[in-house]
Amino acid sequence: MSTTKKRVYVTRRIPEKGIQLLREHVEVDLYEGELPPSKEVLIQHTRDKDGLLSLLTDMIDLEVMDSCPRLKVISNYAVGFDNIDVAAATERGIVVTNTPGVLTETVADFTWALLMACARRIVEADRSTRLGEWKTWSPTLLLGVDIAGKTLGIVGAGRIGSSVAKRAAGFNMRVLYTDNDRKEDFEKQTGAKFVDLDTLLRESDFISLHVSLTEETKHLIAKSELGKMKPTAILINTSRGPVVDQEDLYDALVSGKILGAGLDVFVTEPIPASDPILKLKNVVITPHIASASVETRDKMAEIAAQNLLDALFGKTPRFTVNPEALSARRS
Ligand code: GLV
Ligand code: GLV
Repeated sequence: MSTTKKRVYVTRRIPEKGIQLLREHVEVDLYEGELPPSKEVLIQHTRDKDGLLSLLTDMIDLEVMDSCPRLKVISNYAVGFDNIDVAAATERGIVVTNTPGVLTETVADFTWALLMACARRIVEADRSTRLGEWKTWSPTLLLGVDIAGKTLGIVGAGRIGSSVAKRAAGFNMRVLYTDNDRKEDFEKQTGAKFVDLDTLLRESDFISLHVSLTEETKHLIAKSELGKMKPTAILINTSRGPVVDQEDLYDALVSGKILGAGLDVFVTEPIPASDPILKLKNVVITPHIASASVETRDKMAEIAAQNLLDALFGKTPRFTVNPEALSARRS
């Protein structure tokens, strides 16, 4: 091993545990801004680094990789990695890692929080009460829809989809799921029934998206899919914004084709203040915080740091997105 310390760039202040772990082994260049570094800043700081710890707000493309010839690992502080050109990284022998597992239960909890907030109009009710609109108890005030006994449709039978489905048992729900293939483990753990997307759309009262964003899943839910849903259906998205055609969703919400939506992710993040969806009462909107618990963000920091170190020091990181790159990695 060379005596000079390896160097890494960290694109935002992550919880201290992760920074500390890195500092014990490598030289850390930490970007201190609140907003993501510009591409220029990103390249300028990564040019002479061996490793990069990135966030989902950092676009790590060909240009970045080719400007950083020493770069051996990109450790993403997220489970999703659609912000990274993984194919380009693999070609260059750059290892890409992510932080799955630790955030699964946290995201599943949040998915349910959104689902329940939509079904029972919690946000609307809070706002209306604060505005002094509560005049008396009323048989028809802010009526929502029941959750217990209904049908939940899970799109994407991965870890998060599975944890969301498991929680439905407490609500005596029927659970449907769809994915590219049947997943027997998923069925054993959740009691869910495998159906095609069409059936799931037609029969579910709540539809929750748990796929990663790829060419195949972009606009998976658009006009024709929304048209198949029940007029009483509620759509929950804690995956990635572009999985849904947001304009089509807006139309479906305005015209009453579906009842409501709970959205933590958007096509453009942050969502522009002028976006008409912000005006709709039947939508609950949060700023991409499904994994945002103190405990989980700490664990993500440790795992992202450890993945980075393992890749830099010739070990196999716990969560490698492109294992092919491990055998061909840059030295
Ligand atoms: C958050 O969206 C993540 O991918 O971790
Ligand atoms: C993410 O961790 C998933 O596989 O659902």
